[in-house]
Amino acid sequence: TSRKLLRTLIDYEEEAQNILNEPVRSFYYSGAEYGKAHRRNIKALQKIYLCPNICVDVSERDTSANFLGYSIPIPLGISPTAQHKHANFEGELATARAAAYHNTPYVMSLFSNISVRQVIHAVPGVKILIQLQFMKDRDILSKLLNQFINDGVKGICLTLDIPIINPTKPGLLSLASKYSIPNIPTELREKTKTSLTLFDNDHITWEDVAWFISKSTVPVIVKGVLSPKNALEAINIGAAGIWISNHGGRQLADAPPTIEALRVIAPLAKKAKIPLYIDGGIRSGGDILKCLALGADIVFLGRPIISGLVVGGYKGVVDTLNIIKRDFEANMAMCGFKNVKEINEKCLWENISKI
Ligand code: FNR
Repeated sequence: TSRKLLRTLIDYEEEAQNILNEPVRSFYYSGAEYGKAHRRNIKALQKIYLCPNICVDVSERDTSANFLGYSIPIPLGISPTAQHKHANFEGELATARAAAYHNTPYVMSLFSNISVRQVIHAVPGVKILIQLQFMKDRDILSKLLNQFINDGVKGICLTLDIPIINPTKPGLLSLASKYSIPNIPTELREKTKTSLTLFDNDHITWEDVAWFISKSTVPVIVKGVLSPKNALEAINIGAAGIWISNHGGRQLADAPPTIEALRVIAPLAKKAKIPLYIDGGIRSGGDILKCLALGADIVFLGRPIISGLVVGGYKGVVDTLNIIKRDFEANMAMCGFKNVKEINEKCLWENISKI
């Protein structure tokens, strides 16, 4: 069989979707109500045009950015996505090795098939954060938080957009799947096979989040913000960063595209000097540039990492990150930017008459 050249993240996704069988394919690539918010994330980014800026000396380029005080090669990280063993037998170890290769921060899902501890031990130097969410028992949550901090995570990503799970989302591989989810404490693991209510989030308020932040000795980033109101609330309780996300279109099916939420939240974040993160439909270097031009500090990739894993395991993720890194550098140069700090709204076609 002749293998297609894979030049873009879209090529990788097509290849991965061909390789996978149901129900795994739908679990990874679909979303609430067959992924309508997910598709809109992508479309909304495509509708934004970039304007080239020619004859600017961009011979000395620097794509590096800052994330939680660390210098990273491009303003990009890996979003938490569950259950990587269904994509590749090495699971999160492959993802982590590729992240380490590129010095890209990797936010591991709580529902990973390999524990945070094992990954941090096996992959020296990798920048791991862990995604957490509330569960009914605060004592267990505190214990889990301390355990992850002891394991060496650089921060916590607290996912807050799941008061309940959207029932239309393909969830066949949820907790009772064939691979274990070793981040979940043993006392809970047996119970989770029969009940999801342990992860009940429907009672959570900002007071709970404030309590959680007070317990953490590492930065807590709040994920799932889409409105200015919620952004202000996150700022007020002392979040270390705001992560604009609609869960890859897997929760509220009629949620706005994240790039539109970025437009209304960015001014507040800038005023409060709080780092702003975004994910949802980012598939190219141009998409990263658009997000930064509209005020994001770092963007994150969800499904593209899964695609890399499915197609080529560790190497597939290394290549995926390499493609988007080189593409981002090229887009920066074509728009006349030498470094990330220079990026501003002037590269957006919609501002052409104002410049
Ligand atoms: C997710 N996402 C997610 N988020 C989270 O906080 N914890 C999790 O365990 C998961 N699991 C998960 C599984 C799968 C298969 C997908 C596709 C997504 C949401 C994820 O972090 C991120 O917000 C989106 O994936 C970003 O959108 P793109 O890049 O996939 O379009």
